[in-house]
Amino acid sequence: MQPIIRIGVLISGGGSNLQAIIDACESHSINAVVAFVGSDTPEAAGLSRAVKHGIPDFVVDYSRIIQQFHRYALPNDFNLQECLNKQHIFPGNTPVARIEAFLKSRAIAESELLRRIRIFDFDLLVLAGFMRNLTPYLIDRINVRAEIPRIMNIHPAILPAFPGTDGYGDTFRYGCKVGGCTVHFVDYGEDSGPIIGQRTFPIMPDDTIETVRRKGLEQEWRLYPECIQMFAEGRLQVLPETFILPSGATITRTIVKIARNPSGGER
Ligand code: GRF
Repeated sequence: MQPIIRIGVLISGGGSNLQAIIDACESHSINAVVAFVGSDTPEAAGLSRAVKHGIPDFVVDYSRIIQQFHRYALPNDFNLQECLNKQHIFPGNTPVARIEAFLKSRAIAESELLRRIRIFDFDLLVLAGFMRNLTPYLIDRINVRAEIPRIMNIHPAILPAFPGTDGYGDTFRYGCKVGGCTVHFVDYGEDSGPIIGQRTFPIMPDDTIETVRRKGLEQEWRLYPECIQMFAEGRLQVLPETFILPSGATITRTIVKIARNPSGGER
């Protein structure tokens, strides 16, 4: 018998991925339970899905905090320089003041988020349409053991193509003949973390942005529970791997290795 893992889910919108995860838990097709649902906005329609299933939910109103962040004290354990060094969300030419404002305002919101989620015992944090980049401040407080990342995200494109907020739109507008979705561990960049799983679908001449989005979501609802189950089974290992390029140069990337068999042990 595999242990049952406890998942926290963060959302911003309708929560159809949250629903797919709740359904997979309730039908026992994955060894998991949803311990809580959090949102960065009170308007997230998906919060009602949590209520319907008796799952504790909460909101940390990011917009309100970000607008007034100068009025809040920074968290005592926030180290701006460390976060500046680690983050790679912004391109190199971004003014430092902008990055600092981002890191400070998010750290205030994230410390409130941490305060809310620490009440719950959880093994894995799942971003399911959570439209906020996480900073190193939050990531380091959840990934306490570097070799076992504990935050997953789903992205609506075949990464590393089309990171950002409109993966299906970008895929469609580029004229791609195949679209897809990706589940990855979250790192200090935007949609740049090690890839766990991907699913694809064909894009036909009569497809529109709406049908592409619909086809993509249908794949997401299958992919996310599959990836969560691999985590629950202890099959995901994150390792640096070095490759020799044709030029002779070497490149090291962090790769997710998927074990064929469940580990059967505690994570
Ligand atoms: C999904 O397409 C997901 O890939 C993206 O945001 C959307 C969320 O949809 N990050 P939902 O709220 O789960 O319905």
